[in-house]
Amino acid sequence: MSLIAATGISTPSVFAPASTPALAIRDLSFLVLAVVTLIFVVVAGVTVYAIVRYRRRPGDDGGDPPQVYGSTQIELAWTVVPFLIVIVLFLTTTRYIFAIERHAAPPDAVEVTVVGNQWWWEIRYPKLGIVTANELHVPVSDAARPTPTFITLQSADVIHSFWVPQLAGKMDVVPGQTNRTWVEPRTPGTYVGQCAEFCGVQHAGMLLTVTVHTPDDFARWVAAQQAVAADVPTARAGREVFTAVACINCHTVRGTPGNGLFGPDLTHLMSRATLGAGVAANTPENLRAWVEDPARLKPGALMPAMKLSKDQLDSLVAYLATLR
Ligand code: CUA
Repeated sequence: MSLIAATGISTPSVFAPASTPALAIRDLSFLVLAVVTLIFVVVAGVTVYAIVRYRRRPGDDGGDPPQVYGSTQIELAWTVVPFLIVIVLFLTTTRYIFAIERHAAPPDAVEVTVVGNQWWWEIRYPKLGIVTANELHVPVSDAARPTPTFITLQSADVIHSFWVPQLAGKMDVVPGQTNRTWVEPRTPGTYVGQCAEFCGVQHAGMLLTVTVHTPDDFARWVAAQQAVAADVPTARAGREVFTAVACINCHTVRGTPGNGLFGPDLTHLMSRATLGAGVAANTPENLRAWVEDPARLKPGALMPAMKLSKDQLDSLVAYLATLR
């Protein structure tokens, strides 16, 4: 399944950080890599030296070499040096963990609640009155006026894990428990994340993208998302299908009777790039295929096939396509 292909975004790398916690994690990774590389070079070097220097040569008598028992100096060296290395790595890692976890939210921080669901992400901005899915939008943060985004993580069902490698470390999303994480992106752009804890058949179908906007773009995005759903007169027939069949039991479209909470909020469905948490690009053709039978694009998806007539399907998709 090519989730990334649907979004046209390349595979993320932890070595290309674009946010404060991810930068700290990369620095720590480089320190650990340097230490373990040094250990590898010393151990492999001594091993190679011993193999070459003491290899079997013509004329060996085949007897045992001189046997050496006990050396306080050598034993102290191979006990004390590894102990010191472990202490240094332990203390450095602890310092980084505390620095990341105890970072206080500045007054301009954006607050987001992300709820893991089988198999999609609900994204709420409680202070802004916005609900969306799978595509997190945040402002870029600059040193003069930091605007990090603090993320409250909850689960509606099983354990998921929130991971956007270029922005922050992994944080588990656990039912009955609230975890927190934060990102502070320095560069506008789109960053790819993915559920990082096996959560059922569509674990791989839980793509998450984070779009980082300039402050002006973010303000525009917020204003567009805060608006109630479009009500285009020519799409009224589809709107009636939407409110008459079971769609509204699970989906919210603000400005209509639809206020279901099991599925993604569809108020601004067409502002999102993908369907089904990244399984397909959000085009009217794919939308039609999705509504007709979600399991064809995403086997195991909890949304049922609605068994609509061809006319109902046409008008419903025409209506959904107006939800910009
Ligand atoms: Cu959610 Cu894996």
